[in-house]
Amino acid sequence: MSLLQISGVNKHFGAVQVLNGVDLTVEAGTVVGLVGDNGAGKSTLMKTITGIYAVDGGDVQFSGESLIGVAPGARRQRGIEMIYQDLALCKQQDVAANIFLGREPVKWAFGFLPGFVDKARMDEDALKMIARLGARIPSIHRPVGMFSGGQQQTVAIARALTFNPKLVIMDEPTAALAVREVESVLKLIRQMRDEGIAVILISHRLNDVFEVTDRIVVLRQGRIEADLQTRKTQMREVVSYIVGAH
Ligand SMILES: Nc1ncnc2c1ncn2[C@@H]1O[C@H](COP(=O)(O)OP(=O)(O)O)[C@@H](O)[C@H]1O
Ligand SMILES: [Mg+2]
Repeated sequence: MSLLQISGVNKHFGAVQVLNGVDLTVEAGTVVGLVGDNGAGKSTLMKTITGIYAVDGGDVQFSGESLIGVAPGARRQRGIEMIYQDLALCKQQDVAANIFLGREPVKWAFGFLPGFVDKARMDEDALKMIARLGARIPSIHRPVGMFSGGQQQTVAIARALTFNPKLVIMDEPTAALAVREVESVLKLIRQMRDEGIAVILISHRLNDVFEVTDRIVVLRQGRIEADLQTRKTQMREVVSYIVGAH
């Protein structure tokens, strides 16, 4: 049984058919690159997995169960996380606050009064999570807006991991990064895979896709144009599928 199995998914917005009979499977502990031109339907397809969009037809199964009619929050509980391109971090807040955003551990004053956020525990848990990623953050007490793009990406990944995901979807995680930082994000992706997490990586940077994925799936005008094993594939083949010249 595949972790994720999408079959025959259709989605339209008004008169525009954005997804057309899409089939896609993703196994646990693998990294799948999802590539395609702007407007190909990549983000829309991912939102049918997270539950932001309902499908018009077809099925999305996760761990053998259909997600049709399941709300986004319940899908997250089942192990689906998406890290958006803008990361959705609170730039003025520090690392721990961002990792536990909205779920701050509360210290029960005198054993029964829910008094205040347990900042010491948050810091400790945040440090543990960063350490698990083998990542380096200069100070967890600094507002994340002061960190580099790669460090912010690390915080967003750490946040996603606190939900114990089985699948992490990343939309263009390396697009805005300095070259030096790309490698550290790719390392985090490999690490998630080694922990048995499935990763779907949306990226325009084919070098990154080739470096870190097991499979490359090309979406073009809402259809799966190719589903390729990375190590058996040349970059120019992928490019020709993206532009529809294959
Ligand atoms: N909420 C929406 N309402 C109407 N059209 C949309 C919406 N979201 C995406 N689209 C359209 O769907 C198509 C695919 O978009 P998208 O999934 O964002 O592609 P990609 O992520 O591959 O660039 C585009 O033509 C886009 O304009
Ligand atoms: Mg997109």
